[in-house]
Parts: sequence; C-alpha cells; structure tokens
Amino acid sequence: QATSIPADRVPDMGKRQLMNLLLLGAISLPSGFMLVPYAAFFVPSGGRGTGGGTVAKDAIGNDVIAEEWLKTHGPGDRTLTQGLKGDPTYLVVEKDRTLATYGINAVCTHLGCVVPWNQAENKFICPCHGSQYNDQGRVVRGPAPLSLALAHAGVEDGKVVFVPWVETDFRTGDGPWWS
Ligand code: FES
Repeated sequence: QATSIPADRVPDMGKRQLMNLLLLGAISLPSGFMLVPYAAFFVPSGGRGTGGGTVAKDAIGNDVIAEEWLKTHGPGDRTLTQGLKGDPTYLVVEKDRTLATYGINAVCTHLGCVVPWNQAENKFICPCHGSQYNDQGRVVRGPAPLSLALAHAGVEDGKVVFVPWVETDFRTGDGPWWS
C-alpha cells in the first residue's frame, strides 16, 4: 500500500538543504577544533613516574599507601578503590598478604551495576540480575556476557598505581575486551 504525504507536509527542498548545510557546519566545525585537545588527552604522557598510571584512591579519596593498606586488609580481602577513569576497582590481597598485580573493575558487564564482593560465597555477585564472577572476576554465571575488566596494579613510591591492562586476559586466554 503506497503512502502519500499530504502536499502541505512536503518540506521545501531548498530550505531543507540550507538547513542541512548549516547543521553540518555547526557540528563539524567545533568538533574539528575540539579533536586536538581531545586526542592529546588520550596520548599517554611519557616521562612521568606513573607511566600513564593512576594512583588508587580509598573510599574517602586519599591515595592508597600499600603498606598501610596491607595492615588493615588481610589475606583474601577485596575492597573497592577508585581506579582508572574513576572506575570502582577492587584491590586484591593475595593469601600470602601481598597485593595482587591486578585490580578488578567492579562494573558489571551486563548493565553496569557495581558488583559487591561476597566473602562467604567467594564470588562477586551482582545484585541487579544475579550475575556471578569468581574471586578473580571471571564470569561464572550470566546474564553477564563477559568477565570483569582488569587493570594492572603495582606500587610506586609506596602508593598503589593502576595501569591499563592491554594484554591477554589471564583468566580466559582471550584478548582484553575492555581495551
Ligand atoms: Fe549485573 Fe545485570 S547489571 S547482572
């Protein structure tokens, strides 16, 4: 069945083209200028101590000092810190009381809820739709389609520093879906 547009609803073509041009200019000009600082923002700044890393912050926004942290967080502990791009990221204390060399991004890969650690179950269990992740953040139950993202965790000048994880995901052997 053919649809016919009432004559009074047909836009004036000349006017529409002008509008399109104006719109295009309005969008592309500023975004062209903005691209430069935007791109520069993402280029890792060389020569700095943290090598593009981010110092982990605790719940009240202070830098996480590794030694202090380990005094108050025992083996097996998983506590949220503020990580890369401000993402909630678990700092992991290994059984031998050292900090794990990876942090676990707490953002559920289903719809983005922050996933709490459940010590009793030894899993991360999402309160939103029940996805589960093992103690390293590998997905073990859906609906989450992917494991929790990783970040490297290290210590520099006594502070815990997160660095983007761009290598293979050691839990799955797959490429890092998040980078
Ligand atoms: Fe976590 Fe849906 S957001 S299961």
